[in-house]
Amino acid sequence: MEQTNGVVIYASKYGTTERYAQAFATLMGLPLCDLKQCQALASEPGIEKVYVFAPIYRRVIMGLPEISHVFDPAKVVKVFVVGMTSPEDHATIHFLQEQMLVYMPNATMQLLGGKIVFDDISMSDKMLLRVMYGFEKRKALADRTPTEQRLVEMFEEGKADMTDMTKIHDAVSLLE
Ligand SMILES: Cc1cc2nc3c(=O)[nH]c(=O)nc-3n(C[C@H](O)[C@H](O)[C@H](O)COP(=O)(O)O)c2cc1C
Repeated sequence: MEQTNGVVIYASKYGTTERYAQAFATLMGLPLCDLKQCQALASEPGIEKVYVFAPIYRRVIMGLPEISHVFDPAKVVKVFVVGMTSPEDHATIHFLQEQMLVYMPNATMQLLGGKIVFDDISMSDKMLLRVMYGFEKRKALADRTPTEQRLVEMFEEGKADMTDMTKIHDAVSLLE
């Protein structure tokens, strides 16, 4: 493999985060690797910048401890976090940022919209969403955060798609 100074690493369960990471790596001309298969890439010499793409599951950013074991965490410059969290949900965004900084102290975070198709997820994920929905539905509308309301709407619709690839083009323009 040719020597490179940047790499893109992603974790993804149902493919949405992978699609964002793919688009970013293509536009940046950087190698792309699934977290589970990136040992060989991590041992390449000369890596100076690591870009991470990771989804949120149950308020946790997936894969951060694993990535920080394989790559030098100080070299992670940006973490793109994919989920249903509303951009207006400042408390949750702050909580996610704190989580990221524990593992990747030099990184900045960008939130990207996620996607859920209820019929396509695992039985255990369906059960979890059902429990979360039941909990939120009991609250009055005014007491739900924007993210909780998104969850309720997603569950009632059977799907939600908040993906926006233009955000990747914008992020690349800012980095260039
Ligand atoms: C069981 C389950 C739990 C989730 N929990 C959260 C959450 O706590 N916060 C959030 O913003 N998004 C949450 N999501 C939404 C996912 O982050 C979103 O579907 C994302 O696009 C998944 O990325 P992937 O397809 O790359 O795995 C959850 C989705 C599922 C299925």
